[in-house]
Amino acid sequence: MKSSPNSVTLRADTRSGKSRLCNVLPAASLLCLLFLILTLSSEYKEEKSSLWRVTNSLQNLNNKCKNQYRPYGSEALPQDIVSKTSNLEMRPLWNEKKKRSKSSVNLLEKKDANSTNLFAMAVGIKQKDLVSKMVKKFLSSGFVVMLFHYDGIVDEWKEFQWSDLVIHVSAINQTKWWFAKRFLHPDIVAEYSYIFLWDEDLGVENFHPKRYVSIVQKEGLEISQPALDYTKSEVHHQITARLRGSIAHRRTYKASNNGNGCDESSTAPPCTGWIEVMAPVFSRAAWRCVWHMIQNDLIHAWGLDMQLGYCAQGDRTKKVGVVDAEYIIHYGRPTLGGSDENEQSSSKSSGKDHRVDVRRESYKEMKVFKRKWERAVKDDKCWIDPYK
Ligand SMILES: *[C@@H]1O[C@H](CO)[C@@H](O)[C@H](O)[C@H]1NC(C)=O
Ligand SMILES: *[C@@H]1O[C@H](CO)[C@@H](O)[C@H](O)[C@H]1NC(C)=O
Repeated sequence: MKSSPNSVTLRADTRSGKSRLCNVLPAASLLCLLFLILTLSSEYKEEKSSLWRVTNSLQNLNNKCKNQYRPYGSEALPQDIVSKTSNLEMRPLWNEKKKRSKSSVNLLEKKDANSTNLFAMAVGIKQKDLVSKMVKKFLSSGFVVMLFHYDGIVDEWKEFQWSDLVIHVSAINQTKWWFAKRFLHPDIVAEYSYIFLWDEDLGVENFHPKRYVSIVQKEGLEISQPALDYTKSEVHHQITARLRGSIAHRRTYKASNNGNGCDESSTAPPCTGWIEVMAPVFSRAAWRCVWHMIQNDLIHAWGLDMQLGYCAQGDRTKKVGVVDAEYIIHYGRPTLGGSDENEQSSSKSSGKDHRVDVRRESYKEMKVFKRKWERAVKDDKCWIDPYK
């Protein structure tokens, strides 16, 4: 549609050539004028019709484009260049067959593009033995692994062969929720079917990541956790304890002393639609919701667990559950904010144990979150509580 600069110059040249001819032959000037007018008008007509064509197609475009969705901020770009989401895959600097040692090749299972999952964990060097066992297991199951270092120590992990295969993020004294809010934005992790956001004090001898994923897929669990081996674990809530011979469960029946027991008719957490958050697993869709629920200023995220059911992509009594067939051990070791036994017994140690402070802060946050939620419910006239 647009004429190139060259064709414009050419046309101007022929026109000035014609005028020169008229000057040379004054006798024929009238004829020339007529000729000139005719030429110009035909050119004008041509231009008019092409202008009409341009306008017409622009209008068509306008209609088509009005309905086209462009992500905020990308409006200035042609659509196909826009990359809306990302992932955590590390890419080679140049195109050479990767020279990985044999053992690290064994750790990395060939990834199926459709079924990549993410394993993210907040870690400190003091738990390196447990952490290493978990990382190896998840890497060899084709997971992308991301470690959040809360103690500022990153280099000491280099002794492990897998260290270069995982993503390290370091920020001192931050919780896994703080890291997740900042580094696991749903658009960044959009490629992963399931997101594991785990604590570091867990034992995975009886846990197979791939089998776990196929169970939650089959059971339709959008938010889940593996059951705890109660013979070896710190179990705080009955619902998380493993049921022998079961694949998964979604409620607990234990009657409690104060009369607020759980039975078949219970419809709310912590009797049903609820998991504990030391080893949560979220589907892609559930994570997109949960990420929005995490508050930037409430890093311990206490109270969040009670509301997770709102992100269950349906009925929380069906889509939130505990997997018994694949289970873990919860060691309940002091981690963030705690100091280890050796330090405590050493009289010269200046390392103060801040676990009490962390706990106090966590309770405070729980109250704040509850207030925030209640206010949000009151203020949002368009929101309907599906569980009321
Ligand atoms: C992967 O995804 C594509 C597109 O969604 C689909 O056509 C294909 O069947 C999937 N492959 C597997 C192995 O699930
Ligand atoms: C991090 O927490 C520990 C206690 O676990 C404390 O001793 C240390 O001062 C904190 N560091 C910073 C930079 O806040």
